[in-house]
Amino acid sequence: MLTNDTLAEWDRENFFHPSTHLAQHARGETPSHIITGGKGVYIEDRDGRQLLDAFAGLYCVNVGYGRPEIADAIAAQAKELAYYHAYVGHGTEASITLAKMILDRAPEGMSKVYFGLGGSDANETNVKLAWYYNNVLGRPEKKKIISRWRGYHGSGLMTGSLTGLGLFHKKFDLPLSQVVHTEAPYYFRRPDTSMSEAAFVAHCVAELEALIEREGAHTIAAFIGEPALGTGGLVPPPAGYWEAIQAVLDKHDILLIADEVVTGFGRLGSMFGSDHYSMRPDIITIAKGLTSAYAPLSGSIVSDKVWKVLEQGTDEFGVIGHGWTYSAHPIGAAAGVANLKLIDELGLVKNAGETGAYLKQALTDALGDHANVGEVRGEGLLIAVELVADKGARTFFDASQKVGPRVVQAMLADNVIARAMPEGDIIGLAPPLCLSREEADIVAQSVAKAIGTVLG
Ligand SMILES: Cc1ncc(COP(=O)(O)O)c(C=O)c1O
Repeated sequence: MLTNDTLAEWDRENFFHPSTHLAQHARGETPSHIITGGKGVYIEDRDGRQLLDAFAGLYCVNVGYGRPEIADAIAAQAKELAYYHAYVGHGTEASITLAKMILDRAPEGMSKVYFGLGGSDANETNVKLAWYYNNVLGRPEKKKIISRWRGYHGSGLMTGSLTGLGLFHKKFDLPLSQVVHTEAPYYFRRPDTSMSEAAFVAHCVAELEALIEREGAHTIAAFIGEPALGTGGLVPPPAGYWEAIQAVLDKHDILLIADEVVTGFGRLGSMFGSDHYSMRPDIITIAKGLTSAYAPLSGSIVSDKVWKVLEQGTDEFGVIGHGWTYSAHPIGAAAGVANLKLIDELGLVKNAGETGAYLKQALTDALGDHANVGEVRGEGLLIAVELVADKGARTFFDASQKVGPRVVQAMLADNVIARAMPEGDIIGLAPPLCLSREEADIVAQSVAKAIGTVLG
């Protein structure tokens, strides 16, 4: 779409967009989509179109758009004290209160919260903490991090390496050598379709054991994983997966970092995915749902076990050399406090579980028999519809056919936003946690209609 509209022109000429085909955008071959407002699960663009955002931005606007409670808290904080740093024991009422509120909700055994800005920098922090931990314990070789193929942990140098998706490595000289990848817990894509779920879990464990054997447990600091895979395909783990992985990590004294950037604060219908799947993490990454993206804020929740070693480290080596100017930014913290209160008051964790189950059922009813729908899967309000070329043979479409993106485009024509996940033809749904059943029906009907339009 070519346009001589001023904003679109400025956009093409000046704005370097993330995750965008830069050349096509600069040439005006892809439109600038300019968003002007939002209320509940809907956003509005400058042409006045109302779109049901069934991906909550980047699965982050968990309480929905336009919440005055959070906007007012941000404004009040900005007027009173827009900024002060958190170095050398400084804090604000908002940041101290938020740390307490997070720990009140966190899984057992957690001790302190370090605040950053986004999920990527929080995971950078976590890797540094795992390295520091092993240096303090006198194990300087124990540094590698195991991640899973299809895991998503950010797009920095280290976090882009942890991410197990080729798109984020290509032409960036990633992954870095300290990162090694293992099998994704993706039962639908198991190597042999005759495998039972239990046999597939045993396969994932065997792959992990073999990797640890090859590298040497004495070289491995931590294993990082999302409780349920996000960007890699929105895939809940097979039954028993985390228990089995946890046993391997315990045996080899490898830390578990639970990346709860997507799953934290309710998306799966539980406050944390770690509790949902009985994980026992040593460090938890949080971002997105912490403020529902009303302001940038992330966190690393550190367990008692890790915290004790960090304290020992500063007693031996002095002040910890880690921190950002904007760590625990008061505006982000004020947004976080108001957001967590709202999640409780509105019962959004429960709603995510109940309306998520309703939406998954509606999708299954509408699409379960479709020849190209391989699987409808999900947990809470993290749901995917995976498309296949042939259901019986479980063969996939060639990426060049862009089946997933075309379905999402057809939904957009219907005023519903879904996300075509980057590897495979996977229609991703992760709406705000305040989604109603009526809105869930609109989403399910739109997915079914779009698949019908593209695939018949
Ligand atoms: C599980 C997970 N971890 C980390 C990140 C990175 O967060 P950010 O984009 O805020 O850096 C994301 C982003 O989508 C994520 O889904």
